[in-house]
Amino acid sequence: MSTLLLVALLASACATQYGQSLDDLPKIVDNSTAASSVEKYVLPPLPYEYEALEPHISAQIMKLHHQAHHQAYVNNLNRALVELKEMQGKEEMTTKDKIEVLEETIHFNRGGHINHSLFWKGLAPAGSPQTSLQGDLEKAIVAKWGSADEFSTALFRTILGRVRGSGWGWLVCNVDTRELLFATTRDQDPISLPQLVILGIDMWEHAYYLQYYNNKQSYLKAIWAVLNWKEANERYASCLKHTSISS
Ligand SMILES: [Fe+2]
Repeated sequence: MSTLLLVALLASACATQYGQSLDDLPKIVDNSTAASSVEKYVLPPLPYEYEALEPHISAQIMKLHHQAHHQAYVNNLNRALVELKEMQGKEEMTTKDKIEVLEETIHFNRGGHINHSLFWKGLAPAGSPQTSLQGDLEKAIVAKWGSADEFSTALFRTILGRVRGSGWGWLVCNVDTRELLFATTRDQDPISLPQLVILGIDMWEHAYYLQYYNNKQSYLKAIWAVLNWKEANERYASCLKHTSISS
């Protein structure tokens, strides 16, 4: 794969103005090291304190998850993008293996940055108004699954059955059909159009192991208490208004 194709690959993840594309995430211009300035992605602050989700998700997990794991995806993405920029114009000296490794590095860390940015905004302190199922999303869930309990049972069964090893569980909305669906992805693979993320649940061990060990069911029950349904309902409204990509 040529570096030009790599650039096209990055650009093809079109912006959704929604947080689901790199183009939706904030960057800063770094003039500190390079001869020419470089745009860098930045770690978004959490919309709540690290201890805000206790006792369901401990402050220790939240701090490590945000400051160490998410920060690492951002750092590694920025480093790989600088390397890609440096390769441009020197294609004859670039080996196929090096390009493939760089492509995989960008794909993995791009997904890690996008997925975690969506994840943090999809959570809220238990008992806050955001954590009540609400709006058109509540109506759509009840219409399809019968009740919130039946929905959560089906969602957890899907995630526990399909995510083996590290990955993510999702509730998505198809912008063509407006249908709500469950999805799972491996590693840090993100959701892409025509699907928009409504809810995302991190199933990597770093998200739960310090508190729940190998008990993924208990972790999912804990996450259920801190899901930000206000945010999810707003995402669903975006899906309902989204212009179909196949029209
Ligand atoms: Fe994570």
